[in-house]
Amino acid sequence: MKITVLSLFPEILKGFFESSLMAKAAERGLMSYELVNIRDYATDRHHKCDDEVFGGGAGMLMLPGPLGAALAAAGVPARDAEDSTASASAPAPAARPKRCVFVTPSGRLFNQAMAEEFALEEELVLVCGRYEGVDQRVIDRYVSDEVSIGDYVLSSGEVAALVLVDAIYRLVPGVISGESLHEESFSAGAAAAGPDGERGPYRPALLEYPQFTRPAIYDNLRVPEVLTSGHHANIARWRLRESLKKTLAYRPELLAADGLPGEIRKLIREIITEGGDHEPYPEDPGAADEGGSAWL
Ligand code: 6GU
Repeated sequence: MKITVLSLFPEILKGFFESSLMAKAAERGLMSYELVNIRDYATDRHHKCDDEVFGGGAGMLMLPGPLGAALAAAGVPARDAEDSTASASAPAPAARPKRCVFVTPSGRLFNQAMAEEFALEEELVLVCGRYEGVDQRVIDRYVSDEVSIGDYVLSSGEVAALVLVDAIYRLVPGVISGESLHEESFSAGAAAAGPDGERGPYRPALLEYPQFTRPAIYDNLRVPEVLTSGHHANIARWRLRESLKKTLAYRPELLAADGLPGEIRKLIREIITEGGDHEPYPEDPGAADEGGSAWL
């Protein structure tokens, strides 16, 4: 896979690309990357890349000219000129990057499923927004996906682009071991084997269970006994329960899906009934109803 990132401040990205696991993946030939400075495509004397917003409003917008030229140079096809790509002189569609992702707070919310989808691409072009945004005509012409990393505002699209890159490249086959990917939060089937360790056809995404390493007693704090018992079925059951507890407390909406296996519904009911050492689950889907918990 090749990832090309277009930015007005590529030096923000450089360190990450050179120091992370990604540099290793590149050395091993699994990945390649290119950082493009949009300013290199400005044609005027001052390398101007932004201007005021037509119609008024605060802040500056990225000019369509330099960004459009950078995108064309990166081989991103103009979406409003599809017919011309059929001409003999144009590169074959397969040789051009299919996905051009604009990272913007007004995009679709990024998630693991999108990371998995992007990781399948041969070539991905990311555009980092700056200033108050980008002239819409360039977005319409070149961008296939507008993606936001969350409901908060960053001043630099570069930071958001790095979040995407980090989530995506590690899913490229060979970059990290399949085992590491297997049980982490949000991967398909995360931590959601059945109570006896069996994996059924449907596995909701759950938050990861707590993990511990040596020493078994640290500053008088002992590792949960089951984890040192060597009893694999009990360990699997404990982990599933802890995953469910954590998911109920922090991300109850992940458990709201229809079709949860009966075994998991039962465990959730147990966890809620037993109460225990936590506050009532604040977002229990049924808590606001007369009837109390939706799970009971
Ligand atoms: Cl993708 N960019 C910026 N600048 N801010 C954001 C964002 C992206 N996602 C959330 N906030």
